[in-house]
Amino acid sequence: MKSNLEYLQENDAAVYAALKGEENRQKSGIELIPSENYTYPEVLAMLGSIFTNKYSEGYPGRRYYGGQEFTDQIETLARDRAKAVFGCEHANVQALSGSAMNQAVYLGLLKPGDTILAMDLSHGGHLTHGAPVSHMGQLFNFVRYVTDPSDGAIDFDQIRATALKTKPKMVLCGYTSYPRDIDYQKFKDIADEVGAITMTDASHFGGLVAGGAMNNPFDYGFDVVTTTTHKSLRGPRGGLILCKKEFARKIDKSVFPGLQGGPHMNAIAAIAVTLLKAQTDEFREYAKQVLVNSKTLADALMAKQVSLITGGTDNHMMVIDTVASFDLDGRVAEEILDKVAITTNKQIIPDDPKPPLRPSGIRLGSPAATTRGMKEAEMVQMADWIVESLRNPEQGVLDRINTEVAELCLSFPVPGLE
Ligand SMILES: Cc1ncc(COP(=O)(O)O)c(C=O)c1O
Repeated sequence: MKSNLEYLQENDAAVYAALKGEENRQKSGIELIPSENYTYPEVLAMLGSIFTNKYSEGYPGRRYYGGQEFTDQIETLARDRAKAVFGCEHANVQALSGSAMNQAVYLGLLKPGDTILAMDLSHGGHLTHGAPVSHMGQLFNFVRYVTDPSDGAIDFDQIRATALKTKPKMVLCGYTSYPRDIDYQKFKDIADEVGAITMTDASHFGGLVAGGAMNNPFDYGFDVVTTTTHKSLRGPRGGLILCKKEFARKIDKSVFPGLQGGPHMNAIAAIAVTLLKAQTDEFREYAKQVLVNSKTLADALMAKQVSLITGGTDNHMMVIDTVASFDLDGRVAEEILDKVAITTNKQIIPDDPKPPLRPSGIRLGSPAATTRGMKEAEMVQMADWIVESLRNPEQGVLDRINTEVAELCLSFPVPGLE
């Protein structure tokens, strides 16, 4: 019997060639974009499975189409596993991705025009946390907090003062480019003072919460936690909305029929698989190692006088001020590192004087490299390569480092591409 890939190779040479090119790129380079990972072979199997054929509008036991015996089974498994992993009362697993997941929360629990207190985009917030260019930024009244310029940390005095003045209906923490841990208790106390709902967008570090390596906002009484499933959690692209029971009905109605139609049952099957993996000792070890690797990389960079925003990291990521460190903007730094097959992403830094496509920094993270089995020694080596490439980007140097990177990658196969 022919495999799915053999059909593709025979019938669409162009797409097949692109797939092979991307496979080679993923195998022979080091992925340091903090929002990326290598998923499990079982997840790839589910994503490419016949569950993609099925329409399942509604929820288990309450569908708008027939033939739901097995889709009900997998969605129930995914929901139960999500509740077990994150220790929460309710889980919705249907959001098509992280942005839709956050939109569903705002639209389900608030009214257009309501005030949400969230981090400014250039200080670490996500587009869906009220950036003026996003639909959410136009629909809701986002008031923004920023980090303290003296140390780059969250400034709770400022947040409390803004909350007392603006009386938000929701207080939001959890970020896209903030390299530090979060004091959930302080957020909860401020939200309680003004009667606001508490939400954490744990998209980046959801896997580290699942693996017990970082604090869980539910332990501090948070109302809602969202997380993408494709970053540190190592699953398929998707989003989880986790919440207290009292919000369950509103959240479910908001996802379907409020925001979406048919859920992607192939992705939900893959989420179920991911959440079983997240309960293993192996995953807990992985989560711990992600943090060790991140700290090791950050320390090794700082030992070479590289300037990191906030002066380090508590989580899986770090942000380099490339202007201060190398006199290069983030786009140029990203392009130089692409030449040695170390993939990073350009990143705006707090109060960046430069525009988003030519910002002052790059963002690095350890989840994908850790998935390949890389540890402290490889992180120190990575810091050497990054600093040498950015300080001395001559063709000869870049060619040599590119070869060394490819050699290292041979010893750390990508799961599913061995
Ligand atoms: C904090 C945060 N929330 C939400 C999202 C949105 O996820 P998606 O790109 O899947 O829509 C991201 C993506 O990077 C993120 O970092």
